[in-house]
Amino acid sequence: MSATAETVALKKTPKVPGLPLLGNVLDMAKGPAEFFVHCYRTYGPVCRLSILGVKYVLISGVEAANFMGTRAGKESLRSKEFWQGLCGEYGANRMLTGEDGESHKQLRDIMRNGYSKESIKGRYNELVSITDGSIKRDWQVGKEVPVVEGMQYMVVDQLGTILTGAAPLEYVKDIRTAIIYILNVLVTRQRPKILLQRPEYKKAKGKVMELGYKMIKDAKARYATTKPEDRNLIDDIMAAHIETPEIMPESDLIVSLTGPYVAGLDTVANTTAAVIYSVLKHPEVKARVLKEVDELFAAGEVDEDGLLKKLPSLNGAIMESMRLYPIAVAQMRTANKDFVFEGHQIHEGEMIFIGTSVPHFMDEYFPDHKTFDIDRYQKPRAEHLQPGVYSPYGRGPHTCLGKSLAEVQMALSMARLFYKVDMELETPNYVLKTKTAPTPGPAMDFKIRVKGYRH
Ligand code: HEM
Repeated sequence: MSATAETVALKKTPKVPGLPLLGNVLDMAKGPAEFFVHCYRTYGPVCRLSILGVKYVLISGVEAANFMGTRAGKESLRSKEFWQGLCGEYGANRMLTGEDGESHKQLRDIMRNGYSKESIKGRYNELVSITDGSIKRDWQVGKEVPVVEGMQYMVVDQLGTILTGAAPLEYVKDIRTAIIYILNVLVTRQRPKILLQRPEYKKAKGKVMELGYKMIKDAKARYATTKPEDRNLIDDIMAAHIETPEIMPESDLIVSLTGPYVAGLDTVANTTAAVIYSVLKHPEVKARVLKEVDELFAAGEVDEDGLLKKLPSLNGAIMESMRLYPIAVAQMRTANKDFVFEGHQIHEGEMIFIGTSVPHFMDEYFPDHKTFDIDRYQKPRAEHLQPGVYSPYGRGPHTCLGKSLAEVQMALSMARLFYKVDMELETPNYVLKTKTAPTPGPAMDFKIRVKGYRH
């Protein structure tokens, strides 16, 4: 027992009742966000779950969100186990998401610039034209567009060009396929490993590796001639490899190169699909968004200064979609040591869900929390600024490194889509169905109808 545990009277940690063998798997499959809120309301910030015989601790609420950023939180939680599968599949020793402490900082420092908003400075109009290209290809007049899939293709186009310098159009399908298998089987582990034997995945993985090797070759060739200030994410990773191979060995290049897709593809695709649903579902919000985006593009070229400030309604709709449809309902960690949280003993090696999104669904912090209210984020209300209540990008040392980039990417993509495309839901009273795998969000069969082009 830890030193703290000897001096503090420990509480008995409640076990959430479940079915024999299955445990709480059905509750989780139905909706992890609702289930975690139920657990918090019923049992408090700490309880124990069982999923198909595997035991987990669930810590949640503002207590857990705030804990992640504290020194005790950083020392008590580690990420390694949840990313080992992906590292193993691609022959890597370590990757950004799976490291902690000094090792994590090393990798984060290498990638900070490449993932930052700076990486798209001066390129907003390029992002707009990539978006236009995918609208022309996948959002044609008269068509019913599966929204998550449509957004997945758009995001691969965007991230490929902006972050990695390659516009891997011929690889888009394979990248999307490989990433979905990786997320389902290796990261969230909601599907069995045997699926990785499927020819569809093997072919896609082969193509992604081929692209990876091409990128490595090109980046090596560019190394000598690219000024440090002109480097993109791939150039920074390559420079680290060439200058400090002990930190970025050859074996770790492929997982680092595919990182933007693992981290950015499904997160942005699901969030923006939720934005599209929410805006179309609320005509008064739609009218406000259309007014803003028409003004933004009226001048032709986009002026980069203060983009989000020029789109307060759209930005409110994005933030509200991230509150109600968080793609990271919980963060997964392992207890790095014995520690006491909120009076409960947690043991080294226990697997932990950290339900940071629980406060998103609490009236105490977001009054009338079920209402889609895009003005919650405006001062003086600024409901999201209460400590620990709003965590769409996670908490603590692994907080989304692409946050500022994602904000611009989502705002521009949504602005352009609403500016260009006149869309409608299948029926005005359509209610969104959601899925939980691989990323929580709108179901894959959520479709909109393209009535016409507005511009
Ligand atoms: C809707 C958009 C996005 C959301 C909601 C989101 C959310 C998150 C969350 C919750 C984490 C933390 C995971 C954890 O602690 O286990 C994370 C990490 C990360 N995200 Fe995002 N993300 C988004 C978009 C992006 C984009 C577009 C990129 C860049 C292409 C990106 C890059 C990263 C990276 C590199 C990490 C790992 C950071 C680390 O481990 O230190 N994200 N993201």
